[in-house]
Parts: sequence; structure tokens; C-alpha cells
Amino acid sequence: MVAVTPETGQDRALAAAFEAAVAADERVEPRDWMPEEYRASLVRQMAQHAHSEIIGMQPEANWITRAPSLRRKAILMAKVQDEAGHGLYLYSAAETLGTSRDELLDKLHSGRQKYSSIFNYPTLTWADVGAIGWLVDGAAITNQVPLCRCSYGPYARAMVRICKEESFHQRQGYELLLALSKGTEAQHAMAQDAVDRWWWPSLMMFGPPDDESAHSAQSMAWRIKRHSNDELRQRFVDIAVPQSEALGLTLPDPDIRWNEERGHYDFGAIDWTEFWEVLKGNGPCNEQRITQRRRAHEEGAWVREAAAAHAEKQARAHAEAPAQADADAAADADADAHAQQHEEARV
Ligand code: 3HC
Repeated sequence: MVAVTPETGQDRALAAAFEAAVAADERVEPRDWMPEEYRASLVRQMAQHAHSEIIGMQPEANWITRAPSLRRKAILMAKVQDEAGHGLYLYSAAETLGTSRDELLDKLHSGRQKYSSIFNYPTLTWADVGAIGWLVDGAAITNQVPLCRCSYGPYARAMVRICKEESFHQRQGYELLLALSKGTEAQHAMAQDAVDRWWWPSLMMFGPPDDESAHSAQSMAWRIKRHSNDELRQRFVDIAVPQSEALGLTLPDPDIRWNEERGHYDFGAIDWTEFWEVLKGNGPCNEQRITQRRRAHEEGAWVREAAAAHAEKQARAHAEAPAQADADAAADADADAHAQQHEEARV
């Protein structure tokens, strides 16, 4: 099953133990032996995923200052913060494989690692925030729930929390679109226009068709992925079609129809030329997204330096007077707990 070429008897035994553990659905943990190809493929996928989370903050943050009510603004801010958190869990999970966050960010900034194609499209109206929640987060959940059963423990555990938060994201988008769809004629038209623009790019999020997917077969054999790109895409279409009907919005595909024999919705051909162009950097917003990301990284240098200096100071204090440092840390934690109680009492 696993494409490794063990050289010694010991390597062969380790590879056999790894294969048996994966086949028995046991989790692989950071200190376990694993084939280098497995490690590299996980780093590749997890990095792509982490980068998507943090680049994904940009199109939505575009609307925070223009949200139409305080409630919508609070929801959107929470959602954008969640995406930053998802990036953090995923970079941390990738670090357990021996890759530093600096290295991964450097690869993102220099174009050597990818992020999801979907975030290279612009958010033109407020309804786009709803369409992203419903379609983009809906597609992400469909793709990511099976990752909670990924063979690599830290990735699988990170995905449990991420999926819970993504569910909230999806529902807020659906609720926002429903409000627009049932609103004035102009609001309904704005919702429809957003769905028209986000539908096809959302289907592309699942990756190329199975016969063009370079990694699927091996990733499924290693139980990193549990389903193929096309299987998950079909699952998403089957969920989205009845939801669009409940929303009172149409999907921009005249070929969508229920296929009794297959027990699935048929849908039209995806423009894969567009997908590969976006991956090559030629989407409508690729340049803007990566420029903004590099700028944010440079402007955040002082925060990273301050955090590193603080950690160093703490480590030094601990080395010089461990008992006092522990007491100080406990006092800090106590003060935090008091502040929180005070805050809760005020609320
Ligand atoms: N956008 C950009 N690149 C994509 C892509 C997409 N939609 N789909 C595939 N690719 C890339 C792959 O990364 C791979 O390139 P690489 O060799 O440089 O890594 C190449 O196209 C070939 O694709 P494969 O099908 O062989 O690749 P995978 O087996 O890795 O499958 C995947 C692609 C389904 C995206 C898989 O990597 C995956 O499930 N990743 C985890 C989930 C993820 O990354 N989601 C990002 C979505 S957005 C998000 O999560 C944020 C949320 O807030 C919405």
C-alpha cells in the first residue's frame, strides 16, 4: 500500500508497522516512524490548508467596516478571527512534522506553496459575505469533516475544532443570504448575483477531477484523504441544490437535474482552464492577495520580535529563579482569572 523503499531489515519492520497501523485506522503521532513521503505530503496539504485560512481573511475583512448592522459586524469580525485561529492550529500541527512556521510562510510569500483558488476572487457586494459563508464554507466543511478522521493525529484533532467553527460560518452565511433573498427586489438581485459568481469557483475548491489529481490515490491509501475530489464535489452539489431552493435562489447551471438512477444531482462541466489559470497566479485577485499578505507579515515583524523577547526573558527568569518564576506565572494566571470574573460580573 505504502510507496516506501525500506533498505534495512529494521526499516522494513518500521514500514510494515506503519502500514499496519494505518490500515487498522490507528492514528500516526509525531514521534512515530513514518515514511518521508507521508511526512512531505502531509506538510504540503496542511501548509496549503493553513495558508488558505489566513489568506481567506482578506476578502471578508474587506466588508467589516461596511457591515449593515452592529450584529452583522460582530458576526463577521468573529468569523475572520476564527480563520486566523484555524491558520494557527494548522501551522502548529504542521510544526509537529518538523517544519517551522517561518519556513512555511516563506514558501507562501515566494509562491512555492499554494493556497485555495477560491480566495483569488473579489468580494464585490455585501451579499458576497453570505455567498462565501453558504457556498465556500459549505464546501470547506464537506471537504474537511472527513479530515477529522485523517491518519495523522495532530491534523485530525485540529480539524475537529475547525469544523465546529466552520459550521457556524456556514449557517451565518445561509441566514444572511436568506434575509437578502426575502428582502427587497434589489436585495434579492444582489443575493442572486453573488451566488451566480461564487458557485463555479466553489466547485473548483475540491481540486481537479480525479483522473487529473496527482495526490489523491496515495493520500487515500495513507488515509490522509478519505474521499476523492469528485466524490466530495458531488456530495456538496447534492447538499447545495435543495438548500438553494429553500433560499429562493437559483444556481447558475442549466444542467443541474436529479438523476434517479445515480441517486445524485447531475451538473454541468466545470471550466478547468479557469481553475489552472487561477493556480498559475492569473486569477482576478492573486497579486492583490499575496501583496497584502507580504505587507501584513512585514508590518507584524515588531510583534514577533516582542513576543520572542518576552519568551526569552521568561526563560531567563525561570533559569535563574525557577520557584519565583513559577510563583509569578501563577500570580499572573490568578490576576487573569480575577479580571475575567470581574468582566463576567459586569456583563
Ligand atoms: N486551490 C489551490 N490549489 C489546489 C486546489 C484548489 N482549490 N485544489 C487542488 N490544488 C492543488 C493541490 O494542492 C496540488 O498542488 P501541489 O502538488 O502543489 O500541492 C494540485 O492542485 C493537484 O491537486 P490534488 O487533487 O492532487 O491535490 P490534493 O490531493 O492535495 O487535493 C485538496 C486537493 C482537496 C484541496 C486537498 O489538499 C485538501 O483536502 N486540503 C485540505 C483542505 C484545504 O486545503 N482547504 C482549503 C479550502 S479553504 C479553507 O479551508 C478556508 C475556509 O475558511 C473556507
